Amino acid sequence: MFIRIAARFLFLACIAADIIPTHAAVQFDEARKVFRLDSPGVTYAFGINERGELQPLYWGAALSADDPIGPAKSDPGVTSQDPSTSTTPQEFAGWGQGLYTEPALKITFPDGNRDLVLHYVSHKIDGQTLTVLLKDIERSLFVILRYQMDADTGIIGRSALIENRGTVRIVVNSASAATWTLPPGSDYSVRYLAGRWGGEFLPYQQRIQPSETVLESRRGATGQQNNPWFAIARGDFADEESGGVWFGALAWSGSWRISIELDQIRQVRVTGGYNPFDFAYALAPGEHLETPVFYAGYSANGAGEASRLLHRFELAHILPQAPQPRPRPVLYNSWYATEFNVDEAGQIQLAEAAAKIGVERFVMDDGWFGQRVNDFAGLGDWYVNPKKFPNGLKPLIDKVHALHMDFGLWVEPEMVNPDSDLYRKHPDWVLNFPGRPRTEARQQLVLNLARPDVRQYVFHFLDTLLKENDISFLKWDYNRSWSEPGWPAIANAAQDGEQQKVYVKFTENLYSILAELRAKHPGIEIESCSSGGGRADLGIMHFTDQIWTSDDTDPFDRLRIQDGFTQAYSPGMMVAWVTGSPNWENHRTTSLEYRFLSAMQGALGVGDNLNNWTAEEFATATRLISEYKLVREAVQHGSLYRLLSPRDGSAFTATESVSLDKNQAVVFAFLHSSEMGYPFPILYVKGLDPEANYALTPIAGKPAEGTPQTASGRYWMQHGLEPELHGDFQAAAFRLDKTR
Ligand code: GLA
Repeated sequence: MFIRIAARFLFLACIAADIIPTHAAVQFDEARKVFRLDSPGVTYAFGINERGELQPLYWGAALSADDPIGPAKSDPGVTSQDPSTSTTPQEFAGWGQGLYTEPALKITFPDGNRDLVLHYVSHKIDGQTLTVLLKDIERSLFVILRYQMDADTGIIGRSALIENRGTVRIVVNSASAATWTLPPGSDYSVRYLAGRWGGEFLPYQQRIQPSETVLESRRGATGQQNNPWFAIARGDFADEESGGVWFGALAWSGSWRISIELDQIRQVRVTGGYNPFDFAYALAPGEHLETPVFYAGYSANGAGEASRLLHRFELAHILPQAPQPRPRPVLYNSWYATEFNVDEAGQIQLAEAAAKIGVERFVMDDGWFGQRVNDFAGLGDWYVNPKKFPNGLKPLIDKVHALHMDFGLWVEPEMVNPDSDLYRKHPDWVLNFPGRPRTEARQQLVLNLARPDVRQYVFHFLDTLLKENDISFLKWDYNRSWSEPGWPAIANAAQDGEQQKVYVKFTENLYSILAELRAKHPGIEIESCSSGGGRADLGIMHFTDQIWTSDDTDPFDRLRIQDGFTQAYSPGMMVAWVTGSPNWENHRTTSLEYRFLSAMQGALGVGDNLNNWTAEEFATATRLISEYKLVREAVQHGSLYRLLSPRDGSAFTATESVSLDKNQAVVFAFLHSSEMGYPFPILYVKGLDPEANYALTPIAGKPAEGTPQTASGRYWMQHGLEPELHGDFQAAAFRLDKTR
């Protein structure tokens, strides 16, 4: 997995090098024993200290080429309680010799030795990739650390490969991809994302105190509780567009953990990788374990620029269609219209209506397969339900194509209902501990995708589905967290470190199925959904084109969810649907225009029951979808500025997206409720060409009286733009197009 990503990364870096005339430089200063990774914006340095440990030295804004860094010298230690071995930060510390901070790696040897001390052996610089070989001071346990820096964004990908070159079986008790050490200081705050079903990606922030903050999932998958992303600022993130921000994201869709600690000498250390909780991974002689990649970067210009760097990096290097992902088509999804009651006639009727408003992709959601009339049965039986679709899917798909849309289908491949043919035949295929209850959630159990036979079954049914039907898109769902994560069928199941391999192999098989499907069916696009945004991370995004952000489709709630999502992930993969009003969950009533403008900040979709729409609603939707198509390149692939954040109960929200060529900007503004007749705050537009002229076109709503139709970029940025918004749940949107 790692090697494949690394190879792909290098390949993409070469493509990017054609466009961007800069390279990340990787250097080793032999005299000082210092490694330096440099991009135009960022310098990252670490050295080999006198004990032979890799010690971080600098991470921040780019330094001059001849600036002296290092040599690395271990910290003297505070007292006998906090010796040098613990106060000296390391790039990748083994647990041993008196270490009280988070180790990157912990090993148990069969003779009972659990002491691991990793020292430098050698290194290799290959283009923009640095690998450093470490070895335990006595045992044949080797670690290859890999560093790759992206020249454009300064984002570094780090991972570790742990090799047992000894003659006995050992157990890895915990394995992180990397530890990131920030410049010394105790004035930092961390921002992270947390939530639950129907309320994902909510940003929280707090001062980093002398303690540990743990972001994690113990659920087997990424989860909604926390998301594997962090940002750390000097101070309190007071200004969105200024100040140093260090940020990172872990590319892993299984159980994960990121810990943020302030150590005894006030250094912030961030360690992330496989979640050590319940983790164990046995390595026979000659075997190895690769960690996920932990990406991290630095922005000198606040959280705003940190997000933009990540977005750019994701579009250029992470997404399957990188470096030039196809713009997301406007989709229609049947879920909120029909739930499980899908059939040929009903779906055709919806497809006809969807085509009229300019939808480009029609997606049939849950309910089309097996005995799936509700969520009590059918998962696992991936044949077309003959009652609902007596002629198979072909008539519906043909009709969708005749209406000039492509066709997408919902699947939930890793799950099974006990009430299914599959479970009746293979009750041993689920995660389970023999003799123990199997905890159900939504009446379903988790198939153990780590098993080769389950992997084969899942790949085969998906491959057949795509071979037999002209399907362009899969909405790949995953609707429950793990319980009883046993793998009784694995060889030597009773030994420590065998059954727990499920934490690695399950996700590796998921990735390999996705990769193989994409290779066999080029052109297929996939959405990662997990009861909403429960599987959103840079690991899954390597294989999927978009993310279902949340089952909460209330357009006002979505402003906060989207504000959080885009801290880490590009709006180009943030799927947002317009659904009915009053909202199915909050019962909040909002206008169709408000709902559209909220959803138009991401990859637009429609999920309402179009059979209930009036002619006026059809006209509004048709107009706004065609407006969306004019700005979607800027929205999905441009630079996002969060002008006014909905956080902390703000009555105002505004975002702006600027196309990369600065030819167009699109501004969205939302008013929760007017108070005392005060006007909407002036929006100081950002990122335009100050010398060029831009013409203002309202997409919805209007600007304050006296707003010019055309003015310079400088005018819009310095004088600002005032939307005319009053009342409750009102919204406006504007386009600024460079005039020729
Ligand atoms: C999950 C998804 C929804 C829908 C249902 C179908 O909850 O998040 O969008 O697909 O499953 O059962």
